Amino acid sequence: MSEALHLKTAEEIAIMREAGRIVAVAHQEMRRAVRPGVTTKELDTLVETIIRDHGAIPAFLGYPKPNSPNYPASICASINNQLVHGIPSARVLKEGDIISIDIGTVYRGYVGDSAWTYAVGEIKPQVQRLLDVTEQALYAGIRASVLPHTIRDVALAVQTYVDKHGYSVAREYTGHGVGKVMHEKGLEVPNWWPRRAQERGWTNHHLQVGMTYAIEPMVIAGRAELRELADQWTVVTRDGSLCAHFEHTIAITADEPMILTLP
Ligand code: MF3
Ligand code: CO
Repeated sequence: MSEALHLKTAEEIAIMREAGRIVAVAHQEMRRAVRPGVTTKELDTLVETIIRDHGAIPAFLGYPKPNSPNYPASICASINNQLVHGIPSARVLKEGDIISIDIGTVYRGYVGDSAWTYAVGEIKPQVQRLLDVTEQALYAGIRASVLPHTIRDVALAVQTYVDKHGYSVAREYTGHGVGKVMHEKGLEVPNWWPRRAQERGWTNHHLQVGMTYAIEPMVIAGRAELRELADQWTVVTRDGSLCAHFEHTIAITADEPMILTLP
């Protein structure tokens, strides 16, 4: 049994565009602020201030997870082999690191969600390539988000792009429907598509005008095995290989998809 999709009206999408704009403004500040010497806690404070100054609420702060402490910060800050959900701390960024920063807002009751991987100072060309491939995989998923495609078409567009460039997608984490809540039930947006998707609870929905979802390729340079740290949030690659994460929230239209998380 698949759950009802939450199709949005034009008015709701207009509010989600504002929620997404605030996320994007915070990302513009991160592009400036990420540099050697800064701590991830300082980045978190900067983002929380921007979000609240725009009359919005950080979507991640206090976010619940079964059998774990609630998420304690406004951003996820995941460094090098940390894939997602890194908790901001006193750790100091150093030249050559990469950092994936995930930001979510709630504005007038609607969510915006976007992640980006940033270079800290100069990075090696092969590391820049990982970032470029992951960003382009996101755009491949966005381009595939047109009628009369299905969610499987979106997932395979991401997977095909990543495979072709010799990297792996994370299989355990997916994008998701976004709306009044950050993770809408019944709409997973994977970055690959297994034969037995149904057993994972994934439904191959036809895209419909008014669907709003986050596409978020999580791409690993080495082996795709993951584990969670003792903090019960931070997800890392088991073999220590580098990984990247790019995410936009989009709305499906009769025409091109609308990217909601732009400035
Ligand atoms: N943007 C993320 C996601 O799509 C991060 C959520 S962090 C959490 O899942 F703490 F809010 F869970
Ligand atoms: Co997300």
